[in-house]
Amino acid sequence: MPVSLILSWAEMLLRWAHVISGIAWIGSSFYFIALDAGLAPAPHLEAGVKGESWQVHGGGFYRMQKYLVAPSFMPAELTWFKWEAYTTWIFGFSLLVLVYFFHPTLYLIDPSVAPLSPAAAVAIAALSLAAGWIVYDLLCRSVIGRDRRLLAAAGFLLLVAAAWGYTHLFSGRGAYIEIGALVGSIMVGNVFFVIIPNQKIVVADLLAGRTPADHLGDQAKQRSLHNNYLTLPVVFVMLSNHYAFTYGSRYNWIILAAVFVASFFIRHYFNTMHAGLQPDWRLWPAAAVPLLGAFALTLATQAPAPAVGAAPVPFARVAQILHQRCGVCHAARPTYPGIAAAPLGVMFDTRAEILANASRVEAMAVATHTMPLGNVTHITPAERATLGAWIAAGAKP
Ligand code: HEC
Repeated sequence: MPVSLILSWAEMLLRWAHVISGIAWIGSSFYFIALDAGLAPAPHLEAGVKGESWQVHGGGFYRMQKYLVAPSFMPAELTWFKWEAYTTWIFGFSLLVLVYFFHPTLYLIDPSVAPLSPAAAVAIAALSLAAGWIVYDLLCRSVIGRDRRLLAAAGFLLLVAAAWGYTHLFSGRGAYIEIGALVGSIMVGNVFFVIIPNQKIVVADLLAGRTPADHLGDQAKQRSLHNNYLTLPVVFVMLSNHYAFTYGSRYNWIILAAVFVASFFIRHYFNTMHAGLQPDWRLWPAAAVPLLGAFALTLATQAPAPAVGAAPVPFARVAQILHQRCGVCHAARPTYPGIAAAPLGVMFDTRAEILANASRVEAMAVATHTMPLGNVTHITPAERATLGAWIAAGAKP
């Protein structure tokens, strides 16, 4: 039984389920944010109703009303929104375990960043997620948590510190996915540990004929606001997997910080727009500045120009390096344990394959040191430079 093929299928199905549930979660949360912001007061509304919003969708009209804290009665049918969040985390965490925790040497450890043992890498990767949640939760409950702006600033600094820490412990790709897992876990933690339990207390109070305490709703609102602003960066981090120039950059943690700032401005623009206020157009240039900064940092990651007058690199030397350092995985029949087929179809068996993949080799093994994964085949800096010189001179056959 080809175990690696079965594992590849498991990985694909988990990724599929993770993305679908993530879409359902973010979709419903974006919807409720916009609904909440769009509620308008009206004279006919009963006491305790904050506002109303008329909406049209799918061939019908909806008349949405929001009760502040809770209605005076318990409706017979009540729809809860929680499984979108829970399943996103369950599938995502399983994927993290299957890909990263099962193959720490490939995906987490970069000996040139920190020479961690596989056990230490997995332990740090797993425990830091729990630690991150605890620190964040304590921060929200501390005095800092009473001031929205102060809490936002502290939360941002905490995330940047985590990004710095992860990028100084793990490979760029491993560090980015850990930040994504950390932010995603905080968001799900908010739903699981705060928002839903608080809502359950409110429901129990209603059933018992008690008036629910205001702070339960306030606390849930605070966490849900955080989730709102964290959505954009978490999706960026998940997609960044495909862009080695971000996580593979030597400034990867600063790039992440810049994206967090830009996402905040962009999200803020839409939040004010949904609230029916005039959104501040200056938020767009404000978001562009950190993104341009991030772009400039990735420019600095580009491979250096070849030395003038250097002897041309013969193709045979390039093929030799690629076969020796990459061929265990990137071949029609990979020999590296756990690699079922040439990753992403990238192979270096033939001259044509090598020529066709020259610019990708540059991106993954010269401009960034993403490949070989975990440098398991011990490519040398001189060999990277040789590949770079060959590509810079036009990748001649
Ligand atoms: C231990 C196995 C292994 C070795 C050795 C290895 N790679 Fe990879 N490579 C992978 C895997 C796995 C992926 C797919 C990563 C993913 O899923 O995004 C990959 C992806 C790639 C890609 C495609 C990236 C993209 O997103 O388009 C390129 C190009 C690449 N490798 C080049 C190289 C080069 C050049 C070397 C040698 C210097 C090398 N690899 C060595 C496992 C390996």
